[in-house]
Amino acid sequence: MKRRPLLAGNWKMHATVLDACHLAADIAKTCAGLEDRDVVLAPPFTVLSQVAHMVAETGIFIAAQNVCWEAEGAFTGEISPLMVLDAGGGAAIVGHSERRQIFHEDNALINKRVRGALAFGLIPILCVGETLEERESGQTFKVVEEQVRAGLAGVETADMKETILAYEPVWAIGTGKTASTGQAQEVHAFIRNLVADIYEKDIADQVRILYGGSVKPDNIDVLMAQEDIDGALVGGAALNAESFGRIIHFQEI
Ligand code: 13P
Repeated sequence: MKRRPLLAGNWKMHATVLDACHLAADIAKTCAGLEDRDVVLAPPFTVLSQVAHMVAETGIFIAAQNVCWEAEGAFTGEISPLMVLDAGGGAAIVGHSERRQIFHEDNALINKRVRGALAFGLIPILCVGETLEERESGQTFKVVEEQVRAGLAGVETADMKETILAYEPVWAIGTGKTASTGQAQEVHAFIRNLVADIYEKDIADQVRILYGGSVKPDNIDVLMAQEDIDGALVGGAALNAESFGRIIHFQEI
């Protein structure tokens, strides 16, 4: 089954207003005329609305890097799904490994964020992935299964059709060590089977699973050639319009 490719740039904690405007404008230029793939930008909250405004007519989608589950209230430091929508976002990354590792977000909290995003009509991009220690001790599938099952708990079948998953092995993020295509494909296929098990095969066939972890212009083509890799969630290489442009145009050049 052919799924529409999705290339997402996670800017993490980078970009002042000026940087963000330049980067968004340059990326928008490289996306002109793109019809067969989706491009998503996930800038920091502080520039979300500027970037959304800048790419409004380009077909580029905007995602937040995290989201709370409540519409408003006493949640200092959090951003609500309504605020993301109001700023021009349509999706939210949830459960990124940096949130899990540095800010100790656990599966239960991440599940609240996933369901909160969906309740307000935002598409969650649920990230999962094992640490090096977990991989080396043979726990990759166990950890990924727990993260997927717990992250999706209570998510209805209709919502699952919209939900995006991202496999980001922690040891490959920002390290220059990409998972081999075999390692990535193996986990992607495992996740797809898991979705078929939790929901149904039809849903699993439709759900897009992105790979993240040192995706670069020189490895995107082989990654995207794998059957179960439907796109990429890109960190460092998404901060440069030329390299992200090459990633967006994978297998074309
Ligand atoms: P890098 O591409 O910098 O390894 O980051 C990946 C990532 O965490 C995307 O969310």
